[in-house]
Amino acid sequence: MLATEKQYVHWQQNQNSRSACWLSESNQLPPARIVLVDDKTTADQAYRLACEGTSLLWNGDFHNARQLLQALTRRIERTNKRSEQRKTSKAKAATAADNADDTTNQSLATAKQIPNLFHQQRQAQAQRSRILSRLLLELAPGYSSQLRRAPDLTAACTAAFGELDEPCLLSFRDLQGALGAAQWRAKGVPIKGLDLSIFPHYGVFAPTRHEYVQLLLDAPLPASCNVAFDIGSGTGLLAIILAQRGLKQVIATDLNPRAMACASENFTRLGLSNVQLQQADLFPTAAPLANLIVCNPPWLPAKPSSPLEYAVYDANSAMLRGFLQGAKQHLAAQGEVWLILSDLAEHLQLRTRDELLGWFAAAGLAVKYRLDTRPKHGRSQDDTDPLFAARSSEVTSLWCLQPA
Ligand SMILES: C[S@@+](CC[C@H](N)C(=O)[O-])C[C@H]1O[C@@H](n2cnc3c(N)ncnc32)[C@H](O)[C@@H]1O
Repeated sequence: MLATEKQYVHWQQNQNSRSACWLSESNQLPPARIVLVDDKTTADQAYRLACEGTSLLWNGDFHNARQLLQALTRRIERTNKRSEQRKTSKAKAATAADNADDTTNQSLATAKQIPNLFHQQRQAQAQRSRILSRLLLELAPGYSSQLRRAPDLTAACTAAFGELDEPCLLSFRDLQGALGAAQWRAKGVPIKGLDLSIFPHYGVFAPTRHEYVQLLLDAPLPASCNVAFDIGSGTGLLAIILAQRGLKQVIATDLNPRAMACASENFTRLGLSNVQLQQADLFPTAAPLANLIVCNPPWLPAKPSSPLEYAVYDANSAMLRGFLQGAKQHLAAQGEVWLILSDLAEHLQLRTRDELLGWFAAAGLAVKYRLDTRPKHGRSQDDTDPLFAARSSEVTSLWCLQPA
């Protein structure tokens, strides 16, 4: 899941051959073409070069690099908005012409566009990420920067990317991600409804949406409940809630090594000695049968394009289906499975409700009850988002499942 082999970038600088270790969180290949840019480079020049596929190695003031990145972002947004407007008016014209007085056909035509909209939006995001990631920085061993007004980057970069005692090249965007994550990790994210803060690490799903936490607090525990699993634990939040609800033993798993380190730190901070961690694909090994198995899986069936996306996207719903298929054999008698799942994929026509119910049945699980909540996060209220219709209808559910 995470790239482990080191790659190197080679480039020419003032007639000298240079090379450095290549760091890319989104697993992008080392840049083939690099030009030096600095405070004299205009945003328009930089944008044109980046769109053409040239990487820009920043050699000016550190804070000006941040401003250049903002200027590039504005240019991408302007271009995307124009193309969005063109597509919308074309689609409206086509629908109006095809279905002049047939409203049923009009809504069918709109419905057909939804999965396309999702894929188009992902493509636009990928293109945006490629362009913005072309603004590069060189760091000396130990992640120190020679640039004017550069802050101390060592602690944030070491926490995000690990120890490195050689020069590296990375995108300014990844560096900003590491600096932002260091702040979250220091301050913590307060969890609404609970008297606790969670400290997310770089590259680990941060529980900034809290609605589903309430579902986990509201669901009645099975009658006999000593052992629970939290599958895909991320920061460890759900395991912590289960431990606080009185479970004697909680085993949390995740595939992501960064999640392991993060959850371990959160458990230690809270002094939880009854929560264990295993790096595992889905279920823990050598574990007792569980009275309760909780999972909040990635909720959109699509291919992740970077390690950061493994928390959100699940290609062909492989994790969701694997979880459902394996759950029954890990359950103790009268045990329950609590699956926390948003129905956004259904509104985006990437999965149907019948498919989901079919997977429950094929796994020998029956629905005991379901608790629902509506997300209140910013994107569900943003009517300028092309996916607003789907996002504003989203419901997140806790499905309580039992062996049929
Ligand atoms: C939506 S996040 C949920 C994190 C956490 N449980 C929470 O609710 O805040 C999904 C998590 O599943 C993990 N994951 C994805 N595939 C997995 C697999 N096959 N086995 C274990 N964990 C997996 C991801 O690394 C991520 O941490």
